[in-house]
Amino acid sequence: MKQRIEEVLEEIKEFEISGLEKAEEFRIKYLSSKGLIKQLFTQLRDVPNEQKREVGQLLNGLREQAQTKYDTEKGNAEFSEDADGGMDLSRPGDKIAVGSRHPLSLVRAEIIEIFNRIGFTVSEGPEIEDDWHNFSALNFPPEHPARDMQDTFFIQKGGEGQEELALRTHTSSVQVRVMENSQPPIRTISPGRVYRNEAISARAHCFFHQVEGLYIDKGVSFADLKQTLLHFAKEMFGEKAQIRLRPSYFPFTEPSAEVDVSCTICNSKGCNVCKYTGWLEILGCGMVDPNVLEASNIDSQEYSGFAFGMGVERIAQLKFKVNDLRLYSENDVRFLNQFKSGI
Ligand code: PHE
Repeated sequence: MKQRIEEVLEEIKEFEISGLEKAEEFRIKYLSSKGLIKQLFTQLRDVPNEQKREVGQLLNGLREQAQTKYDTEKGNAEFSEDADGGMDLSRPGDKIAVGSRHPLSLVRAEIIEIFNRIGFTVSEGPEIEDDWHNFSALNFPPEHPARDMQDTFFIQKGGEGQEELALRTHTSSVQVRVMENSQPPIRTISPGRVYRNEAISARAHCFFHQVEGLYIDKGVSFADLKQTLLHFAKEMFGEKAQIRLRPSYFPFTEPSAEVDVSCTICNSKGCNVCKYTGWLEILGCGMVDPNVLEASNIDSQEYSGFAFGMGVERIAQLKFKVNDLRLYSENDVRFLNQFKSGI
């Protein structure tokens, strides 16, 4: 019996599978239910008990070798038959659909580029923040109503009585981190996603994107702030763009202002987007409150600075005339495809 197995093994090794037909022949001869190997297994019954184990192992080895040979050679045969029979090497390839960058990414990149060119670096920080970086260091006193200006999502860390964290409501929190870790001159912008507990509608969403800026040095004045923002508006909306500042309130800036840009849609003639005023609100800004500088160990006697913050969706809305905020996060390709040219 052992000898017979040896012989079959030799035969299998020498069997040349040169094509699919030969492969089938090989399978029928050795591997099928009436094949040689099956027959040998039937004969195992007659082998004396003390040899059964050894012979059984030899037979299993034989079957494995045959199966492996069959699988590889058949694969090879299929491949080469395909290559000369089934494949036309001169056929043009299938077109691969090219995606496009998301409109918010386009606008975010453009804002960053404008500020990069005038010396601002980019800084990023965590989306889950502690009270200090999102509020306290920014001069929001505890229990102050200004905290309600930004409806906050709170997160309980590890259960009752533990520190309360929040999803950041603005990227001013990143600027606190920059001030804590470096000394002036500081010139940085912080792009990122922020969260507010608002009902989702065409005009509001529970998350959106901001780019906030910070400039701290000796002798930084409100005139520098105005000039920087005018420069930004002209780069973003065209040479004819004008800005106007209206007094406002933020806990972390004093004085504070809201900035409008001349309506790019109707050239300030009045339309329903600018509500016939000729102006569109685009950002908040102001001179950094001395308390904020001191909270981050920057000497407010020596240094002053300005800060501003804008919503990326808002700028995108004006640039692309999209008036429903929800479109930005629905990922409908019919919407996204329209921004292909902007790559
Ligand atoms: N952090 C403010 C907001 O999210 C924007 C802002 C930034 C205003 C810097 C003034 C100065 O609404």
